Amino acid sequence: MTYNTDFLYNRRTIREYTQEDVGDDLLDDLLKAGCRASTTGNMQVYSIIVTRDEERKREMLPFHFNQKMVTGAPVLLTFCADFNRFSKWCLLNNAGPGYDNFLSFMTAAIDALLVAQTICIAAEARGLGICYLGTTTYMADKLIEVLKLPKGVVPVTTVTLGWPAGHPDQPDRLPVEAVIHKEVYSDYEDKDIERFYSAKEGREDSRQFMQENNKSTLAQVFTDVRYKKEDNIYFSKILLQVLKDQGFMNQ
Ligand SMILES: Cc1cc2nc3c(=O)[nH]c(=O)nc-3n(C[C@H](O)[C@H](O)[C@H](O)COP(=O)(O)O)c2cc1C
Repeated sequence: MTYNTDFLYNRRTIREYTQEDVGDDLLDDLLKAGCRASTTGNMQVYSIIVTRDEERKREMLPFHFNQKMVTGAPVLLTFCADFNRFSKWCLLNNAGPGYDNFLSFMTAAIDALLVAQTICIAAEARGLGICYLGTTTYMADKLIEVLKLPKGVVPVTTVTLGWPAGHPDQPDRLPVEAVIHKEVYSDYEDKDIERFYSAKEGREDSRQFMQENNKSTLAQVFTDVRYKKEDNIYFSKILLQVLKDQGFMNQ
């Protein structure tokens, strides 16, 4: 038996794809592998919407902030927290589902993310490229309409899938010790933060980011441009309303 996890060390997000399709058999294999992921109580409280139709991709494009991967990738996978199917099974079997609450949404969202990441790893192991789209949670209300998601179903992430058209540079990571705590959390002193983030701040692409956005620190690119407080609050309100509308806030 061989254990080859090298591809995990070498992976990077792929945002440009060749014209080549991802065949049905290959996709089925990936989906089957994904569905072997751990799942809460073996309930499988998730659904995966496969989008291949170009027209539907174009419909979704603005809700993913016009990110080119949406129409550039042959396959789009939208992963949904889904207590609809399981609750229906309960109701058919003289069992009262109690899943219209926030905890159950978290349970189903965790399930959905685990199956998503397992499919991504299976895809990357076969040389495919993937990109997650965080826009799914920003525009969940619109995606619910396009994908006709019933009550009890909330999209939590999207993955674009295809054959890589290039080999982009691999982004950095914090040193592993920055994210590991032995036994209990040891909080960071200023000098630890400075040490852990210094390599990232010193990178050429970070400097370029700062210059392009007219910011004096890399952190400001995140707080003032990429992930702003007002945007976070605005999209939080939409997402909370989605959770209410989809029946997950009855507590
Ligand atoms: C939940 C999630 C949402 C993401 N959303 C986007 C996105 O909307 N657009 C994008 O280009 N990349 C997106 N990414 C990819 C990250 O930007 C990428 O993983 C990160 O920059 C590290 O790069 P790497 O995956 O190549 O190591 C997302 C990743 C995750 C995990």
